[in-house]
Amino acid sequence: MAIRNKFKTILGSIGNTPLMRLEFDVKPTILAKLEMLNPGGSLKDRTALHMVEVAERAGKLKPGGTIVEASSGSQGISLAMVGKVKGYRVIITVPDRTASEKVAVLRAYGAEVYVCPNTDRHDDPRNYHTFAEHLARTIPGAFMPDQYFNKENPRAHYLSTGPEIWAQTEGKITHFVCGAGSCGMISGAGRYLKDQNPVVKVIGVDAATSMYSAKDPKAYAVEGLGIDVISDTFDVTAFDVMVPISDADAFSMTKRLAMDHGLLVGISTGAVMHVALDQAKNLTEDDVMVVIFGDSGRNYLSKIFADEVKNIKHVEAALAHGVVTMPE
Ligand SMILES: Cc1ncc(COP(=O)(O)O)c(C=O)c1O
Repeated sequence: MAIRNKFKTILGSIGNTPLMRLEFDVKPTILAKLEMLNPGGSLKDRTALHMVEVAERAGKLKPGGTIVEASSGSQGISLAMVGKVKGYRVIITVPDRTASEKVAVLRAYGAEVYVCPNTDRHDDPRNYHTFAEHLARTIPGAFMPDQYFNKENPRAHYLSTGPEIWAQTEGKITHFVCGAGSCGMISGAGRYLKDQNPVVKVIGVDAATSMYSAKDPKAYAVEGLGIDVISDTFDVTAFDVMVPISDADAFSMTKRLAMDHGLLVGISTGAVMHVALDQAKNLTEDDVMVVIFGDSGRNYLSKIFADEVKNIKHVEAALAHGVVTMPE
């Protein structure tokens, strides 16, 4: 039997994610780009694959080499998947705030993981980024994609996410809303959409207490977004407005999306949807808004759904309390 094989490896299934219409009581059309359906579970599959393949072509990453990255989770997971498919050793450093599910996934892919203290001071050698740089310098054959400083990060989205959204909306998109962390998505996809039609409004979502949005920056609990490094990868001409969001608003929308709408999405997506619905109040039936659903809520069960997970009903207890009865 001839079997037609569409993909040579799982990496062939990265990108080309669906665009889904959301039913909310607002005037504009809101479409969700389902990035959680990438095989590694997030939008970061695109940047991981692109940064690794550019490094291979440039001779910076050779067979037998090691990928080292500092990542609060998603980028690390995608690099672990890409690295293992391609046969590299993978080392990921994460800050202490990273959800335990994400660390477990990294380990499941066989990545070596270093959990570093939650310090944002880069002069502290235990800072996760500083420590990753140290490993990359000292391990022979190591390559650090360094998503916060690598222009191939936004380029990945300029080459894939942006064109997909433009084609899927047949050029009708008027508003684009996404989270901003390393700013690869907003700088790459945002720039591409504005290059096609400068009238497209690009709306970024940042953690309210990040270095960028706060006069007095503080730690925050949302993961994925939060601009704490401002580098050349951040194209400040690619967006119109950057909206700060609190942990509380991001968490409550994330819960609402799961429990009222059956959308089990990550906390950054909750943040993005909070902002999207707020902005939608000022728009009309003619507007077409695309929002990025970056990853799944399964990555955050212990962090945001901990109360629900604790409150599982056991049938014996329910019977004892008369909450349910058994059939005669
Ligand atoms: C899960 C997740 N991670 C990261 C980001 C931010 O992407 P970037 O690092 O490219 O700014 C988003 C944005 O929507 C996201 O949903």
